[in-house]
Amino acid sequence: MAVSIAVANQKGGVGKTTTASNLAAALAFEGHRVLVIDCDPQANLTSAFGVARVMDATLADALMDRNTDLPRYRVNDARGRPVDVVPASPELARVEAALQTKLGRELRLREHVRGVDTSYDYILFDTPPSLGVLTLNALVAAEWVIIPTEARFFSLQGLQMLTESIEEVTFLNPRLRVLGIVLSKFDRRLREEKTVAEYLRERWGASVFESDIPTNSKILESGSTGASIFAAGGRDRGARRAVKAYQTLAAEVCARAA
Ligand SMILES: Nc1ncnc2c1ncn2[C@@H]1O[C@H](COP(=O)(O)OP(=O)(O)OP(=O)(O)O)[C@@H](O)[C@H]1O
Ligand SMILES: [Mg+2]
Repeated sequence: MAVSIAVANQKGGVGKTTTASNLAAALAFEGHRVLVIDCDPQANLTSAFGVARVMDATLADALMDRNTDLPRYRVNDARGRPVDVVPASPELARVEAALQTKLGRELRLREHVRGVDTSYDYILFDTPPSLGVLTLNALVAAEWVIIPTEARFFSLQGLQMLTESIEEVTFLNPRLRVLGIVLSKFDRRLREEKTVAEYLRERWGASVFESDIPTNSKILESGSTGASIFAAGGRDRGARRAVKAYQTLAAEVCARAA
């Protein structure tokens, strides 16, 4: 059975998609079989892997119809190693509204994932910046949650709320646990970020991943080129440092989830 991890934080722009896509690529690069599911109507992860150009079905189709298989598209993103992607589209927003009146609406994705989970070592879910039905579907389908956060004062309040919500989801999914909080765009040169990072490690202790992802222009650029930092890469120091950061995080993820 695959290790399944939802990447979640109801706060917007904290690095969920960037973490999910580069972690997926890092795990694939290590030779793991990886599926990544885009649960966000913004479909940023779908664009980040360049799937939007080729897809004819999306997660929306599978969520609306139990008998439709999860549409999976294979991309050779991690330097020749494949990553499978279940794409999203803006239509997912309509699906979210349509599911509101359906019985068992939080369980739909889990049913689909159970059908494919022997084919993978890791299944990652990218989620939207809300705690609505789509995020709930991911939290019910997953065993673990990774919480990316910025090292900013206003991010701390959100973390408390998120962990309380995760606690509530265990009613539907008793095996759900936080795998770790990751500083996903950490600029250690800024005093506020250093202070918040120190507080975070004090408050949340071992829950915080030892590895953090530095703020890095190559990471920023790769998101919009339709490729992970592994594929977009480049040989300069910034790109190599970014790849290394996600590899270190991936190793820690594997060790914690083992
Ligand atoms: N380590 C990093 N260094 C530089 N830029 C980063 C880093 N991580 C993420 N970013 C950038 O920050 C922005 C927000 O990141 P991302 O889209 O991953 O956040 P998100 O939490 O998925 O957002 P949303 O809540 O809208 O889904 C993007 O422009 C992304 O390229
Ligand atoms: Mg996102």
